[in-house]
Amino acid sequence: MRDKFIALDQDKCHFIYQLCFATGAKTIVEAGTSYGVSTIYLALAVASNIATFGGVGKVIGTEHEPGKAAQARRYWEECGSSIGDVIELREGDLLETLRHDLGTIDMLLLDIWAPLALPVLKLVQPAMRSGAVVITDNTSGASARYKDLLGYLRAPDSGFRNLTLPYSKGLEMSVYLPNQTQ
Ligand SMILES: C[S@@+](CC[C@H](N)C(=O)[O-])C[C@H]1O[C@@H](n2cnc3c(N)ncnc32)[C@H](O)[C@@H]1O
Repeated sequence: MRDKFIALDQDKCHFIYQLCFATGAKTIVEAGTSYGVSTIYLALAVASNIATFGGVGKVIGTEHEPGKAAQARRYWEECGSSIGDVIELREGDLLETLRHDLGTIDMLLLDIWAPLALPVLKLVQPAMRSGAVVITDNTSGASARYKDLLGYLRAPDSGFRNLTLPYSKGLEMSVYLPNQTQ
């Protein structure tokens, strides 16, 4: 899997791109960057939100394979500086690289090996604003492997409202509303 080109499906990328505009997302954590395909969609939307509404923001990408990280940077360079300017790629194990300086998170994309998804969510959750969205890929196709994550998200007092969107193999959309009662 070290050099496999596994990107978020195009229709799912279109959805997260649209979702960034709906939520005005400016600060996003992408757990699992690989060659940086989904990052491009997120960065385009974040750059546009910043240009429209002002303020600052970034897409925090994460990748521990140096070859993938280097190629991702080359792709982003090809896209132009408006993309690269809003991407901060953190290289190394994301359970370490996401321990600091997250700011206030509007969105978390969990496109990572399933056993890492819940630990990453728990790491990022304290930085998530109310109304932040967590998108998790493949939650129907790999529901057994996501059992701990889905159990956590769907617990009655989790603070998350969850919906499985009918994309191929499922795409979980979870909205973080820690202070809202049912
Ligand atoms: C499914 S791919 C991400 C695809 C990407 N979101 C896209 O759409 O182009 C998951 C990536 O997570 C990376 N990864 C796995 N474990 C990691 C870890 N502990 N820290 C950082 N990255 C990791 C893998 O190397 C892989 O490239």
